[in-house]
Amino acid sequence: MSLPPPSPRGTALITGASSGIGAAMARALASRGYGTTLVARDGDRLRRTADELREHGARVETIEADLTSRTDRAELEARVGRTGLTVDILVNGAGAATRGSIAECDLDAELGHMELNVVSVVDLCRTFVDGMIAQKSGAILNIASTAAFKPMGGQGTYAASKAFVLSFTRTLRLELRESPVTVTALCPGPVPTDFDRRAGFTDEEISAIPAIMWKSADDVAAVAVAALERGAELCIPGRANVVDATMSLLKTKQQASQAVSR
Ligand SMILES: NC(=O)c1ccc[n+]([C@@H]2O[C@H](COP(=O)([O-])OP(=O)(O)OC[C@H]3O[C@@H](n4cnc5c(N)ncnc54)[C@H](OP(=O)(O)O)[C@@H]3O)[C@@H](O)[C@H]2O)c1
Repeated sequence: MSLPPPSPRGTALITGASSGIGAAMARALASRGYGTTLVARDGDRLRRTADELREHGARVETIEADLTSRTDRAELEARVGRTGLTVDILVNGAGAATRGSIAECDLDAELGHMELNVVSVVDLCRTFVDGMIAQKSGAILNIASTAAFKPMGGQGTYAASKAFVLSFTRTLRLELRESPVTVTALCPGPVPTDFDRRAGFTDEEISAIPAIMWKSADDVAAVAVAALERGAELCIPGRANVVDATMSLLKTKQQASQAVSR
């Protein structure tokens, strides 16, 4: 199991490709010769990312879609189909977060983000995996987070949504283990993108995160593509973030062993 080779009729469908990690994934795959189909809501930002890739000779399509909309998601397959391309790589990168305790959060905003972070990932995997199985090659990268490994005060639904993505991705991989489709969960730590400000973090809060944890979007994408190439189940860019995830898992293990001994 590994990345299918670039092909003239194949495309890498990347959601959240108008900025941040999604745009970096598009650059990383395009630099290896893959055609890409970029999906997000903001048409101007999508076109800017696409123009940048085309300057380097890449084949790029853009699709404006709001992935919280079931209608937009349902139309995605047909819209890709009209380009004459088949999706042989799927990167579920679109994601967002809000801040606030569960008791005080804006419920509509939280539910909208769950529709994006959780439901759209399930929907797009289900939509495109059949084609990959039929064509006997394919790769899926779902972007979770190191937040998947721990509870996070003030970001309860975000952390839970990423725990869902991690669990779902591992199960999908298990179910496809006899197939030629590779499935990988990417769990980045902090990455300097629009994400934190969009989520409502202040500059002060952002600068309080230790420098050792940060990885650039391009570094994260390079590590993710390497993980896809070797068919890895899980990819956590950066040693400090591996340690962070390991500590969270050890705490869970400790809690589980105490639960048994009572
Ligand atoms: N940055 C971090 O520290 C970090 C750490 C761990 C994991 N992650 C995860 O990495 C992924 C990418 O985040 P990022 O850091 O690259 O943030 P970002 O720069 O804010 O990118 C988010 C992308 O998602 C798209 N998007 C948001 N809402 C959408 C919607 N309703 N429909 C379609 N597209 C939508 C945005 O485009 P439009 O606004 O144009 O739609 C944008 O392209 C997310 O899943 C995030 O949870 C980020």
